[in-house]
Amino acid sequence: MSEVILVVDDDSANLMLAQKILGGSYRVAAANSGAAAFKYLEKNRPDLILLDINMPQMSGFEAIQKLKSDENYSSIPVIFLTADKSVETETKCFQAGAIDFVGKPFVPDILISRVRRTLELERYHSGLEELVKEQTRQLKERAQRINEIQNHVIVGMANLIESRDGSTGKHVKNTQLYVTMIVDELKNLGYFSKILTEEYIQNICKAAPLHDIGKIKIPDSILQKPGRLTEEEFQEMKKHTEYSMEIIRNIIGDVEDEEYVKVVSDIALYHHERWDGTGYPKGLAAEQIPLCARIMAVADVFDALYEERCYKSPVRPVGKVLEILEKGKGSQFDPVIVDVFAGLEQKLRDILGE
Ligand SMILES: [Fe+2]
Repeated sequence: MSEVILVVDDDSANLMLAQKILGGSYRVAAANSGAAAFKYLEKNRPDLILLDINMPQMSGFEAIQKLKSDENYSSIPVIFLTADKSVETETKCFQAGAIDFVGKPFVPDILISRVRRTLELERYHSGLEELVKEQTRQLKERAQRINEIQNHVIVGMANLIESRDGSTGKHVKNTQLYVTMIVDELKNLGYFSKILTEEYIQNICKAAPLHDIGKIKIPDSILQKPGRLTEEEFQEMKKHTEYSMEIIRNIIGDVEDEEYVKVVSDIALYHHERWDGTGYPKGLAAEQIPLCARIMAVADVFDALYEERCYKSPVRPVGKVLEILEKGKGSQFDPVIVDVFAGLEQKLRDILGE
């Protein structure tokens, strides 16, 4: 289908002439005023507008101003039609946003070649735009895929590390589930609404599996010790929080967005802090501890108690574990988070098959 050219001129002889010159190669629509042109544009989108400058009511300059300030029309190329071939008018035409101008009376060869060249340029331009759009889409898709693969690798690595201390590898998956449940419920009940944006929620859930990744640097003799750790061993064990943060910064610091890196680092570094300030590694208290780490602390301890480890037998049922968490309210844990988690007891029982 050939391209559509809208010719706007108050002189019907000019409209007919343009129709005669261009009609053999293009579909030509005619409007005898600016108002008629905008009426036409309500339902049609021409590929090019030929616009007379001197028209009563709305001049060509007024019409182009209106076209260029409306995003529906601003990309349609405009060629001015004018009998005035002065440098001033020519300059004014280009300043107004016209792509070219053609002198009147029309010289058929000039009119047709200007129109043809403008349409060719337009086709080339929109082809380039499409190409850029498509390539941007492909790049985004690839970046997302890489991101997903990276997450799988990281979660897989986290699982591997967890399995070293005798847990069944369920810890990573479980704690992520509990964190997600807590965050969703906090959001539902309207807690911490300023912090819990959609992005923050997504970041916490994605980050949870990485909280103990620093355990890779803790020797087996400590990690797999069946009995109680000596003071020295415990000091070494405590370092896993800082190791986690270092590893995270090293492996995702440059490739992930800043907000996510912040959340995942906070979870890793602060998930053993205590509400009363006696935790590690920094001894932060109450709301000094980032919310994501306070949530992780509850999810982490719940799972550690509920599941069997090489150094301990499981605490069952869910209610008993929640009672222990309840005792840590205000000393070890953020009381709001414990209350919200305790409110999910039935859901937990269902998930854990009790
Ligand atoms: Fe930990």
